[in-house]
Amino acid sequence: MPATNSPLAKLMNNDKLQHAGYLAVAKTRAKALKVFSHLIPLPRPLLFVGEDACNELCDMVINEGGTNVFIVTDAVLNKLGIPAKVTDYLDQHNIRYQVYDGITPDPTFAVVEEGLSQTVNAKCDAIIAIGGGSVIDAAKMIAMSQGNNCKPQKLIGILKARKKGVPLYCIPTTAGTGSEATLGAVVSDNDTHQKALSIDPKMIPLAAAIDPVIMKGMPKHITADTGIDVLTHALEAWMSANASVETDYYAASATKAVMQYLPIAYENGEDLQAREEMGIAAHYGGIAFNKAGFVHAIAHQLGAHYSIPHGRANAIVLPYVLEVNRKGSEKRLAKLARKTCIVESAQATKTDKELANYFIEQVRELIETVGIDPTVKGMKKTDYDNIAKAAAKEVSDTYAVPTYMSPAGIKMILQKIQTASEDRPNNDTQDKKSA
Ligand SMILES: [Fe+2]
Repeated sequence: MPATNSPLAKLMNNDKLQHAGYLAVAKTRAKALKVFSHLIPLPRPLLFVGEDACNELCDMVINEGGTNVFIVTDAVLNKLGIPAKVTDYLDQHNIRYQVYDGITPDPTFAVVEEGLSQTVNAKCDAIIAIGGGSVIDAAKMIAMSQGNNCKPQKLIGILKARKKGVPLYCIPTTAGTGSEATLGAVVSDNDTHQKALSIDPKMIPLAAAIDPVIMKGMPKHITADTGIDVLTHALEAWMSANASVETDYYAASATKAVMQYLPIAYENGEDLQAREEMGIAAHYGGIAFNKAGFVHAIAHQLGAHYSIPHGRANAIVLPYVLEVNRKGSEKRLAKLARKTCIVESAQATKTDKELANYFIEQVRELIETVGIDPTVKGMKKTDYDNIAKAAAKEVSDTYAVPTYMSPAGIKMILQKIQTASEDRPNNDTQDKKSA
């Protein structure tokens, strides 16, 4: 605890009244979301796994009546020839298709609208997304806009679509976002430069293919960043106040897989079993992740302020938020440690407190093992206010977390990150390991 007259204590006192109101709103929203998630059961995409998964997914497209397919991807993947696995198969079955490779990282409405105009003009009746989270999110917005005959901006918010989208199928090329399993999509607003979110169960794709061969070309640093993103989805879902038996199952399965297979996939990208297990973990993390928390909320702000990739930002924040949650979630963290078998038999008799600490230490070690640089370059104290307020708002608007932090609590985490960053000058571990 800070001394009562310390600057940190004053900061916390100033926040007190604001925090009380924020807490009440956040808890009410969390309860409403819990009711909502019970009233509206979420559909699950049919999952194909393995080296034939893409072909099986294409068979489904054809069997469901797809005759003219719109393939959504990005220019890098298209140049690498990744969509050929799909287009060759469609050629063999005389199915027409058109490839749109204009998706950029953090796609804007303009990017989505361009894809929409192409699929509408070509009268496509099915969409296959081949790519990471940005491609899949853009494809979701294109499919829903085409199906609802509206501009994508009209879909921003919760349950804005009246009809289903055009049938959507996904082939993730990274094991990270699990976007192929989620009911949301993020688009960047060209004018405000803010990210806009569309949430609707109708957005969940019909099917997804986890193909380890497609994932084996992923560079080491992207394997590491996206892998920790999966772990974060799983842990935030596990610790959510709205966790259920179902989300617990997916969150624990994803956690166990990441702990076991991420170091292998990182060390040897050609290991197809590790790639496949990480692909399934990402999918499971996506299913469970409809419950997020403070790690993502703070990481989103670090990413926006200091251009840090999403997975790496999560990896930087995750250990600190786990520490904050540790006391209130000791039993839950200990249960996860036992469930995911990351404790050796001799340690299984340890107390909940010891196991929770052990689990957090394992997470720290994993982040270190996969070479993630935990520093934030160019961090400024003058940014703290904006970051903390925006992160607190994101949580109160959307998430059900086990421990609600005030903006002052978030600023303490930011201070710890900055101190750790300054204590590690000239850190080039990430660059060396990723090379
Ligand atoms: Fe994420």
